[in-house]
Formats: sequence, C-alpha cells, structure tokens
Amino acid sequence: MSRITLQAPRHLRGKLLVPGDKSVSHRAVMFNAIARGRARITNFLTGADCLSTIACMQALGVEIERQNDTVIVNGVGLRGLREPTDVLDCGNSGTTLRLLTGLLAGQPFFSVLTGDASLRARPQRRITEPLRSLGASIDGRANGDRAPLAVRGAPMHGGRYTLSIASAQVKSALLLAALTSDAPLRLDGQIDSRDHTERMLSAMGIDIGIGLDHITLFPPLQDAESKLIPHSLTLRVPGDPSSAAFWWVAAAIHPDAEITTTGVCLNPTRTGALDVLRAMGANLTISNETIEGSEPIGDVTVHSSELVGTRIEGDLIPRLIDEIPVLAVAAACATGETIVRDAQELRVKESDRIATVVTGLQALGVEAEDQPDGFIVSGRGGEPLRGAVLNSHGDHRLAMAWAVAALAANPETTIIGAEAVQVSYPGFWETLAMLGHDV
Ligand code: S3P
Repeated sequence: MSRITLQAPRHLRGKLLVPGDKSVSHRAVMFNAIARGRARITNFLTGADCLSTIACMQALGVEIERQNDTVIVNGVGLRGLREPTDVLDCGNSGTTLRLLTGLLAGQPFFSVLTGDASLRARPQRRITEPLRSLGASIDGRANGDRAPLAVRGAPMHGGRYTLSIASAQVKSALLLAALTSDAPLRLDGQIDSRDHTERMLSAMGIDIGIGLDHITLFPPLQDAESKLIPHSLTLRVPGDPSSAAFWWVAAAIHPDAEITTTGVCLNPTRTGALDVLRAMGANLTISNETIEGSEPIGDVTVHSSELVGTRIEGDLIPRLIDEIPVLAVAAACATGETIVRDAQELRVKESDRIATVVTGLQALGVEAEDQPDGFIVSGRGGEPLRGAVLNSHGDHRLAMAWAVAALAANPETTIIGAEAVQVSYPGFWETLAMLGHDV
C-alpha cells in the first residue's frame, strides 16, 4: 500500500480539464458494444473501473481498441454477444457489475460476474430481485445478494417495477434487461437518479418515454437489427463533476486559491454538490455552458471562500451521493454545523462512507458524529485542521477527500492507501502538485 504525505501549499491556482465522467465512460463502452456500427469515444476515463468494463465487454466477444483516452468500439448488436469462457472480473466497479448483470440477464448464454473483496461485500439483491421479477435466472452468494453472481440467460418479460431506492445502477440494470424483453418495461417510484442511461440509449435510437414519475422503455422490435437499432454513438465524454468536486472544495477551503475546472458535465442529476457549495457561501461561478452530445457541460471556477454549515438531505442526496466525502471536508472547515441525512446508501459504497468519513474527520480534530443515515459535523471555522495519518480504506473517493483536507491542515497529513485514486482519477496526485506549485 502506498502512502503520501502532504503539507498545505501557500496557494492553489490553475485551470484544468478533469478526466472523463466515470458513469458516462462505462455506458459509452457498454452500450456501443451492443449497438450496430463503429463508435469513437474520446476523453474516456482511463481509471481502473472503466478499464474493467472494457475488459468484460472484450471477454463477451466485442472488439475494442484503446489508445490513451480514445476508445474505438466495434458494436456487435443487441444479439451479438458471445458466452464468455471465464468469469467476468468487474474489479472494484459496482457500475460494471450491476449494469452488466442486467444486460446479460436476457442473453442466451451463461455468465458469472465477480469483483474485488470490496465489491463482493456489497449488496446485490437490489438488482437480482427486480431482475428475477422480469424473468431472469440469477444466483449468487447469500441467496443472490453477493457476488459472484451466476446468470443463466433467459427470456425477459416487460411489465412494471417500482424502484424503492434512487439508484442509477439499479434503474440501468433493469432498462438494459428490458432491451431484450418481449414487452415494454415501466419503472415507477424512485426514478430520480442520474439519467445518463436514458439519455444515451435514447440518442442511440431506443424508444424511452420519460414521464414526471415514471420511465417506459419500449424494446426494439426483432427486425430493429436490420434498421441498425441501437445504432453506435460517437461521443466525447464530458468532464466528471464527481472528480471536479475535489478541486471545488480545495479552492473553497484554502485561503489563497482560484481553480477553474473546464468542460464539466452539468447534468442536473449530478450537480447537487454545486448547489450545496453555493448554499455554504462558496465563491463559485459557472461559465461557457453548452451541450456536448447528450449532456450539458460548462466551466466551474471557485475562489477561496468563507463557508458556513448547511443541511444535506432528501432529494439532494442522489444528486451528490459520490461527493459527500469531500463535502464533509468542506463542512469541517466551515463555520457552524452541517447535517447530512437520508444518506444510508453511503453505508454500502466502496467503503462504509459514514463510518470512514466520521473517523477520518475526528482524526483531523473535527467534532463529527455518526448517525444511522448520515452524520453531523461541527466546522472549525477559520481554524486549520489538525494534520493526521488517515486511511483510504481502499476507497478512491476517501483517498482524494483526505488529500483535500490536507490542504487546510497543519503541520502535515499522511494518506495510507493513496493508490486507490487509480480507480477514478489516475492523474490526481500530479494535478494536486501542479495546483500547489510555486510559480
Ligand atoms: C453510478 C451510480 C451511483 C454512484 C456510482 C456510479 C452509475 O450508484 O454512486 O458511483 O454510474 O450509475 P447508485 O446507482 O448505486 O446510487
């Protein structure tokens, strides 16, 4: 395990392009693999999670070439995947495992999906139970709640399902299973999670109806293949707001900072962190807003700010779920109390992010209290954080949140398990050094 020791730099300054969005990168490869035609994906995220998706799609018989962050996918069509000769390894990636299980549920072959120790410890009943209700034959450890998952492809039926958690991974697994079903699928309930799947499949020619409280996917007819549906989609992946958020908070909590992140995905299902930072009083501006493919993008500039505590709860949670560790660092530096509620999903992410965030904040000298569905942080106001030795627990977003905390801590902070950043942000440490470099 690698460790990195950081001291607070005198200033933080720079303009940077954050890596491609993780959710969009996964989907761009997976969906183009089952499309007709050849697609060119640029600004693809080369983090370990998205490389797991490429490897799995290759193991399913899809020809994919990658050169740095450009990926060429030669789609095989909805019925062109091949039975893999070995277990599919999804690494640390919940998105790969859950979306792929949905996609494979209706394919006429057998497949097994697994991942690393963290992924194998995460709950899967949330996908296996609804997929079974559509006709899937899936088994796994703990009665189908833990990977490895074994999928015996079966005909999918459409119908209706009410989502009980606002999870894009669950929603997407069901929509992908419905692609091969014999009737439309209607999803009700908690549909308000990130909507990249709906946007991208629709741009590929799939008929998806989006209502205020429901989504309906109409599977392409059997002769759709001859009409090349779904058709391949060449795209540039927008910058990842979940990666940019580390720099937004870094600039806000540092006394001498100005950072601009360019070309960031500003899809409203992903911008909860911007809303929270504004509510906390962050000095933040958005410019150059435009549309890139099926996603809105723009530049975000943040200056040193005097933050105040806030409440993060309810409908906001799915719009910033991955940003909560770094928002907790913002809360630690703010004046007053920040309360996070309705975020029990944090317990089943790459680590138990309620427990790991609270323990780390306490080590930094911050008053923080664990709650069943969130936490309460008493900010230190203008007081610097207390440098500490912190653990990433193998969780990429924790490693980066602690690096941001180190920018406002004295005298120094050590992060154990710093290599975890590779999962979603391979150039993170180099970018951090560039931003704090004395010119
Ligand atoms: C993702 C959805 C979210 C998010 C994850 C990526 C996706 O998970 O936390 O990092 O790409 O669909 P849930 O859908 O489980 O909330």
